[in-house]
Amino acid sequence: MCGIFAYNGKKKNAPEIVVEGLKRLEYRGYDSWGIAYKTETGIEIKKDVGKIGDLKPSEQNFKESTGIAIGHSRWATHGEVTKQNAHPHVSDKKEIALVHNGIFENYLEIKKYLKKKGHKFTSQTDTEVIAHLIEEHSKTHSFEDSVKMAIKEMEGRYAIVVIKKDEDKIIAARKGSPLIVGVGKEGEYFIASDIPAFLKHTKKVIYLDDNQLCVVDKSKIEFFEHASPDPIEKRIIEIEWDEESAEKGEFPHFMIKEIMEQKDTLNRAINQDPQVLEDLAKEVKKAFGTYFIGCGTAGKVAMLGEYLFAKIAKKHINCCFGSEFKNYKNFLTEKTLLVAISQSGETADTLEAMEIAKERGVKVAAIVNVESSSIARMADIVVPIKVGPEKAVASTKATTAQIAILTLLAYACNGGIKNGKQLLINTASQINDMLNPRYEDYIMKVAKKIKDVESMYIIGRGINYPIALEAAIKLQEVSYIHAEGFAGGELKHGPIALISKETPVIALVSNDENKNEILSNATEVKSRGGYIIGVSPENHPVFDYWIKVPDTGHTSPIVNIIPIQILAYQLAVLRKNDPDKPRNLAKSVTVK
Ligand code: F6R
Repeated sequence: MCGIFAYNGKKKNAPEIVVEGLKRLEYRGYDSWGIAYKTETGIEIKKDVGKIGDLKPSEQNFKESTGIAIGHSRWATHGEVTKQNAHPHVSDKKEIALVHNGIFENYLEIKKYLKKKGHKFTSQTDTEVIAHLIEEHSKTHSFEDSVKMAIKEMEGRYAIVVIKKDEDKIIAARKGSPLIVGVGKEGEYFIASDIPAFLKHTKKVIYLDDNQLCVVDKSKIEFFEHASPDPIEKRIIEIEWDEESAEKGEFPHFMIKEIMEQKDTLNRAINQDPQVLEDLAKEVKKAFGTYFIGCGTAGKVAMLGEYLFAKIAKKHINCCFGSEFKNYKNFLTEKTLLVAISQSGETADTLEAMEIAKERGVKVAAIVNVESSSIARMADIVVPIKVGPEKAVASTKATTAQIAILTLLAYACNGGIKNGKQLLINTASQINDMLNPRYEDYIMKVAKKIKDVESMYIIGRGINYPIALEAAIKLQEVSYIHAEGFAGGELKHGPIALISKETPVIALVSNDENKNEILSNATEVKSRGGYIIGVSPENHPVFDYWIKVPDTGHTSPIVNIIPIQILAYQLAVLRKNDPDKPRNLAKSVTVK
């Protein structure tokens, strides 16, 4: 949620470097953008509404900089999408410029205080208040101390990066929102919300932890805890991700690239140290009450986990969205286990749930993609899903890898991890066969038929019910068609009233104990005029259109969601939406 990129080094084209970095972070927010950079005479600002990706090199015409620039790609929270509300924000005297990711919860109170002191505000944002607050403190204190004093007064989760007119420094601080430092050559530093933004320049990174701050000047970088004047030691880590994996390559969009990567990512997820899974399985078996949590797609994966555990491990699991978890706090004890599922590892609602659990002595595990993320670092046990950077806003390869890990975990809990692994290896090879251009063409036929509908529905039972819900998220977020998932048996209790002639209904029909009943539900829909698209290993007479998937048993949720990911992508393209950057959404949701 919001992308931050900053550069401090010798290169005079610092603003261009920041623009390029922001383009790689645009998936985190793309309703407006802006940069601030230092010249010999002061701070220059350039900002605009829209996507920074649309900014042409000819429109950049930046002045020569002193090698210091900060930038931001915004996902609006406080204040609508306007140029005035775009970051960076500056203080009254334009001495301070600042970018911010997160929410400054008590900003109204501080704004009132600053107004009394004579500060004038030009935007509706919480961020502008931070710039004024730092300027207020810097009347009597050093730049570093002013930032430290300001963050002491700020409530909420945030990452900020600040520059000052008469200083050759960048100061960055975080509490709850990610910031990573990239260490370049010869005193060159990058600061970004995510690693792929500076991978082109360096693979050496230093993670800024919560409640830490760093001061980067032309010759060195120093780290501090927010509340302490003494510098702390931080380790430089060499990361494995390569630049290519963070780029689109021959694909027109990240979304389709990441869908296609599922030929390989399932294997990457399951081929890891089995001990980590065995350890987590031991905790699940030992726990008195296990909760799987996540948000959005990861929340649906958590729900699927409940079904998989009931079926494979014969074990009851509670599942819930991160944002709802606090309602269960009275049931948490030292014997409870919480398993947080997340791609980014930065989702605020999931992090808050983990904090609530930790306060009550609950053991916390994470199934996560970004291994350096806040969620991974807060967890006692981390199971990485190892799918590499996922950049399209709509989660695809991370989703199926999370499902694979939960499936394997369920097998590990019933003592059959080897069987589970073999099943997943077979599934991965069937996905490899399935993902070919002919399959895409076949799905495109149905995409063309339904591209102009107003609503569509997805039905499933058992392990396919959470997949119906996830299918709806995928279709909604990139096609903008109204899509809803239902448990097949629930239709007749209300939603069937929504079916009229030619309403598309996707029926997820696997060869399991729910097959006959879900086919009956599809028939009920068809009798009311619905157009049935069956996702199934076999064709059934009730289907108007059949999308074939391999028959993989307990892993059918994985193979069933893939054609729907493709369909969602194709609908987005046919409807001229940008599948990588759907409206109103951001990849990493760091606000509550
Ligand atoms: C939908 C999607 C979101 C995320 C959700 C949680 O395709 O990607 O619903 O699943 O915002 O994000 P993570 O997994 O990063 O915690």
